[in-house]
Amino acid sequence: MNKISKTIFSAITISILFFTLSGFDENSGETIDKKVENLISQMTLQEKVGQMTQITLQVVGKTQGSAGQKFELDEKKLEEAIVKYNVGSILNVWDVAMSVDEWQNVITKIQDIAVKKTRLQIPVIYGIDAIHGANYIKEATLFPQSIGMAAAWNLDLVKKSGEITAFEVRAAGISWNFNPVLGVGRQPLWPRLFETYGESSYAVTQFGAAYIKGIEGGDNPKIAKDKIAACMKHYLGYSIPSSGKDRTPAWIPERMLREIFLPPFKAAVDAGVHTVMVNSSEINGIPVHSSHYLLTEVLRNELGFKGFAVSDWGDIEMLYKREKVAANRKEAVKMAVMAGVDMCMVPLDYSFYNELLELVKEGEVSEQRIDQAVSRILKVKLQLGLFENAYPDPQMKKKVGCDEFVRLSLQAARESITLLKNNDSILPLDKDIKVLVCGPTANSRAYLNSGWTYTWQGDKEEIYPKNKKTVLEAVQAKIGEKNVVYVPGTKYDSIIDITTAVEAAKKSDAAIVCLGEKAYCESLGNIDDLTLPEAQLQLVKALAKTGKPIILILAEGRPRIINGIVDHAQGILMAYLPGPEGGQAIADVLFGDCNPSGKLPITYPRYPNAITCYDYKYSEQVEPNKYDPQFPFGFGLSYTKFEYSDLKLDKPILKEGQNLNIRLKVKNTGKRFGKETVMLYLSDVVRSVTPPFKQLRGFKKIALKPGGQKEVTFTLTKDDLSFIGRKNKRIVEAGQFIVTVGNLRQGFILE
Ligand code: BGC
Repeated sequence: MNKISKTIFSAITISILFFTLSGFDENSGETIDKKVENLISQMTLQEKVGQMTQITLQVVGKTQGSAGQKFELDEKKLEEAIVKYNVGSILNVWDVAMSVDEWQNVITKIQDIAVKKTRLQIPVIYGIDAIHGANYIKEATLFPQSIGMAAAWNLDLVKKSGEITAFEVRAAGISWNFNPVLGVGRQPLWPRLFETYGESSYAVTQFGAAYIKGIEGGDNPKIAKDKIAACMKHYLGYSIPSSGKDRTPAWIPERMLREIFLPPFKAAVDAGVHTVMVNSSEINGIPVHSSHYLLTEVLRNELGFKGFAVSDWGDIEMLYKREKVAANRKEAVKMAVMAGVDMCMVPLDYSFYNELLELVKEGEVSEQRIDQAVSRILKVKLQLGLFENAYPDPQMKKKVGCDEFVRLSLQAARESITLLKNNDSILPLDKDIKVLVCGPTANSRAYLNSGWTYTWQGDKEEIYPKNKKTVLEAVQAKIGEKNVVYVPGTKYDSIIDITTAVEAAKKSDAAIVCLGEKAYCESLGNIDDLTLPEAQLQLVKALAKTGKPIILILAEGRPRIINGIVDHAQGILMAYLPGPEGGQAIADVLFGDCNPSGKLPITYPRYPNAITCYDYKYSEQVEPNKYDPQFPFGFGLSYTKFEYSDLKLDKPILKEGQNLNIRLKVKNTGKRFGKETVMLYLSDVVRSVTPPFKQLRGFKKIALKPGGQKEVTFTLTKDDLSFIGRKNKRIVEAGQFIVTVGNLRQGFILE
């Protein structure tokens, strides 16, 4: 399945511009804004509308790149796109990841035409989905998917993964990444949950800002040569479709929108993010691509976003084709552009270009609005330094996929793995035992990576690099092939040979049962039932009858219900989608070479119809409504023990505007080195809008030797105490608050 077939599936003022002073081009001594102004003054309407047009690589391809065939540009079509249609941006792969060399070649040809054959020599901004590392570059370093990165609760790792991704993407000659996903993952059925940092708005806010800093670099308005522009997406409210199916309606009250879904985007804007991608879907009956309120009033006027907004794949056209708010494509174009979309990911033709030109000529869209959009786009191109040098740097290639980068990916995978159950300390396993390894995710690389890996769906097992181990191979390497029997037992949702697996279990000391999901991306990952497929449950139930210890490995992008088999397992490891180093990391945890430190960034529900997030209300704290998940948000065991003590707040009474400093001691009282994420929750005891039982307001990851102790500190600001009040504005109300860290609690009063 490629992106084309996917389409079938899913089917101001100008003055603001020149006041947003933001950069200085050392080469010419001219400010970036001045350069933008100069360019705009020389551009024809056609050149401007072309800048707002983004097409996919397929449009200018001669041959489709696939496992067996090299992608080739059609230079005539490319020239048509860039010279005739003045196209300002190209995206994507067709159909498979390319090597750095191939990318450099493609980008060089594209920029050659843009800077040598067009009147104003405006370079193309090439955009790519580098979702868990530079996943469309063959040699690149891939990381756990974001849900796993979140489970590691390590901001530094997230930032570094962003830095590496930026470096490798730029090495290919590409300067724009359609990531991070800043949707808060509160709908576990949604097939894009794995692209999120989980269900806590606070955590998504922190991780998103850290990733953007990693991708884009510091506060300099110019983006360094080894950094790229990030694209926060999908603005706004994409991650909670009522049905759980991708690109279906969401109903999000204004208060919830502002309380939960807006803060990560606000923090990203504050972190300096340069671009935004619009939510494909509708909220409250309004497709976001047509929402002036969200795209202009909130995003620009409230949040102060200065970069440019790109549509999602084909979504302007969808305003009339799917959403039915426009009578035809032209009306859809007008709607989206006037709402605030600056660039259209068309992506397969020049319809947007032609229609927008007509609209301006007919006076339906003002040239001022066009100038505004184009200025935003040109400014980012200038900030990226593309006008100075639009070409790939051949020197950067050497470091792509280097050992140092791979080590970070392994560390991330190890830190993400979350130990959910460990009865009688069954884990870590001894290395001198015989094990059965079985289950659909045991011997697959694709299932450990899933969507956005080498292809859009990530399901082409045959193209995954063989030097990365599956769980089976990593276990074999750890304890010797002769001590491991492998029987698949089942595929994702059908039985292969459960009886053989049972017989093999009888002859083994333990069964390592690898369950989970097959690879998927976007709508193709839609499901009707959160429960793990019956075949997988049957495998575990049959194995349980042998009486041998069972250890479940869950390799899945969302929390598939396992209620029927939890009691059969002595040990459970949640691996999420741990990326290429996942097999190794899982084996390291299984056999004690790594002490697990992951904690759930989502609630793991017990039943498919009992979906409640961790920041539930008091009415959900008691029977008969009690929040009773399989495993709560923030849960994760270790092979050692941590004790929390001496929780101290620096003042019992806080005056408005003051910060609250908090400290406590954490001690490793067990026998092993371990890492621990200390999480701070805040509860507002009484307020005018029903308070959540608790909300995450801080986390810190520390490392402790056996017997070691550290002081951990947090600071709560006014923002941390605030909430969206009855009038839908952020407010703070005086009264009592409670801080909870582990088993410790302390109250304070806000005057
Ligand atoms: C996805 C985006 C992605 C875009 C470009 C869309 O289908 O929703 O997240 O960035 O395609 O590939």
